[in-house]
Amino acid sequence: MNPGPHRRNASRSADLYDRAVSVMPGGNTRTTVFTRPHPSYAARGAGPRVWDVDGRAYIDLINNYTSLIHGHATPEIVAAICEQAASGTCFSMPTESEIALAELICARVASVERIRFANSGSEGVMMAVKAARAFTGRAKIAKVEGSYHGSYDYMEVSEDSTPSNWGETQPAKVPYSRGNAPSMLDEVVVLPLNDLEQADRILRRHGDELAAVIVDPLAARIGLIPAERDWLALMRRLCDQFGIVLISDEVISFRVARGGAQQAFGFRADLTALGKIIGGGLPIGAVGGRADIMRVFDPTGGKPDVPHGGTFNANPMTMIAGRVAMEMMTDETYAALAEGGARLAAGIVKALADAGREGQVSGLASLRRVHFNARPLRDYRSAYPTDPEREQMAAFYQGLLAAGVLVAPTGLMALSTATTGTVVDEAIHGVRCALGV
Ligand SMILES: Cc1ncc(COP(=O)(O)O)c(C=O)c1O
Repeated sequence: MNPGPHRRNASRSADLYDRAVSVMPGGNTRTTVFTRPHPSYAARGAGPRVWDVDGRAYIDLINNYTSLIHGHATPEIVAAICEQAASGTCFSMPTESEIALAELICARVASVERIRFANSGSEGVMMAVKAARAFTGRAKIAKVEGSYHGSYDYMEVSEDSTPSNWGETQPAKVPYSRGNAPSMLDEVVVLPLNDLEQADRILRRHGDELAAVIVDPLAARIGLIPAERDWLALMRRLCDQFGIVLISDEVISFRVARGGAQQAFGFRADLTALGKIIGGGLPIGAVGGRADIMRVFDPTGGKPDVPHGGTFNANPMTMIAGRVAMEMMTDETYAALAEGGARLAAGIVKALADAGREGQVSGLASLRRVHFNARPLRDYRSAYPTDPEREQMAAFYQGLLAAGVLVAPTGLMALSTATTGTVVDEAIHGVRCALGV
């Protein structure tokens, strides 16, 4: 086979990519995992490590974009999946397994009185938005500039605004892709994170027409900067005042505490979107919240206000993997994850200092993100990397890969319970190599 123009050097990954480009656009079926000249293809994972098809080993510090809370091929989860697979992977009937996972989550998250499962976080967010619209009889949604909530059109507004189009003070409404209908902009209001004065002004102006305000208390794409308690409290107050549904997107941030980000950040949402870790490594999404709002999905009186089919909703493979994974999340486990995250952050900060580089680490508990700047980070705009910062991040990412540490190209990292102290130290050593110290 002729090597394509993308080929870096002869490797099994390059061969696979040659096959991929003739059947998938750009050889890709998940934008997130594309890297130039071609991605390394995974062969297998075990605990905190993953191996590519060329035999290179990596410490996995991103864990399928934060979804593998116990790392790879966790024996308890593998056993549960195998047992379920042997008696059927999915049925045209509900199974007991969905009740067990629903009970577990309702017991842990104070604001979740009822829950419904879907197959991705995007779908969980979409169903939360639809529920809010049905409940309030309004259409518009307020979201935060730069926040990522998956691929539902309305949620994509101003998801990756840039200094060239984000407007002066009040965030401009910017479409994300050429696949968006321009009319979606009419249905969305954009707020800056942690700016109380603007949030107050914007939400008061649009309060009567808003179905929902959606927040992520620890938004990865906004630099993993915590939402401030005062700002979250203002959101809660204004939602109460105007009868708006407050949605917390915890698809990623749920992992920071047993009761989710709402427990860690001290606020109560009306609806919560979940995904990632609650599926135990299999595809999942969910929406949960106040029983009176969740009633929009209730089919017992005929067609519900918001029907929600889904061939694989609550399939028993995912439900069982999720339950086993979440049952393994005890108070001790959360404490150990937080300790590992703090140790990693401290190690990176020291490596940056030793390298004489400007930088900082944002985040909380097992979620951390590196920034090559020292300015105060408070919102999307302050976290937005300059061109030189972007170049430093790209070099850091490549340096980490060469040192055998896998993170997101944005510098996002997520520990698992398998990323124990010695593995964290190994990862810090990789960080030091990548920074040349
Ligand atoms: C905060 C947030 N919401 C929603 C989603 C969408 O989840 P999924 O990729 O499962 O559709 C993501 C995915 O990364 C996310 O980070």
